[in-house]
Amino acid sequence: MAKATSSLADTPSSPLGLAVIISGRGSNMLAIARASQAGQLNARVLQVIADRDSAAGIAAAQALGLATQVIPAKSFPDKASFETALAEAIDASGATLVVLAGFMRILSAEFTARYAGRLLNIHPSLLPAYKGLHTHERVLAAGEASHGVTVHYVTAELDGGPLLLQARIAVRPGDTADTLAARVQQREHIIYPRVIDWLATGRLQWRNGEPWLDGAALRQPVILEEHES
Ligand code: GAR
Repeated sequence: MAKATSSLADTPSSPLGLAVIISGRGSNMLAIARASQAGQLNARVLQVIADRDSAAGIAAAQALGLATQVIPAKSFPDKASFETALAEAIDASGATLVVLAGFMRILSAEFTARYAGRLLNIHPSLLPAYKGLHTHERVLAAGEASHGVTVHYVTAELDGGPLLLQARIAVRPGDTADTLAARVQQREHIIYPRVIDWLATGRLQWRNGEPWLDGAALRQPVILEEHES
């Protein structure tokens, strides 16, 4: 049972242990791992887990000296047995915080409840707008003036957990899905390590099912504008 109030930084001097779960390239995982290895983040990537053999991020993680594991979802008969194996790998790693970083699978309510308050995701839109896939294409098709990316806690609702930090960018004339994705990714690599730093330093806490930042309930995400770093 999760504690009603939990600081993941009960012992601030020891690094926060992370399990990072990926499906693809893993550039967010690498940004987090590099910040950790550079001493900019009091957190340590204990395990990188991919749900498919083809995830390029696994080789990149190994090149950084990180422990990796592939748990191929397609080799399990159903979602429940895959999630059981995933949870076993996370728990065996000793990680306190589970970081979904380009993990392209919908997790069950049982799984999200098991890691309540210690499960983060990054989603390429300004949530609650543009949940789901193909966010850059949909933002362009809608003629939006701005776009962005969100780090949030994961709950049973898809892309629906409490929002923590967003980076907003302007949509520029001539933008394509690729140019937007590239600018969004640059911001992802800033905001994901930042939220993990908030947790590692105890600034961000999970209290009674909602996030608290610097001692106050966080009911709206913090927004980083394009000119801010
Ligand atoms: C990132 O843009 C992330 O926001 C997105 O996948 C990409 C992974 O990139 N996540 C989702 O769409 C989740 N629904 P990466 O593998 O280079 O970190």
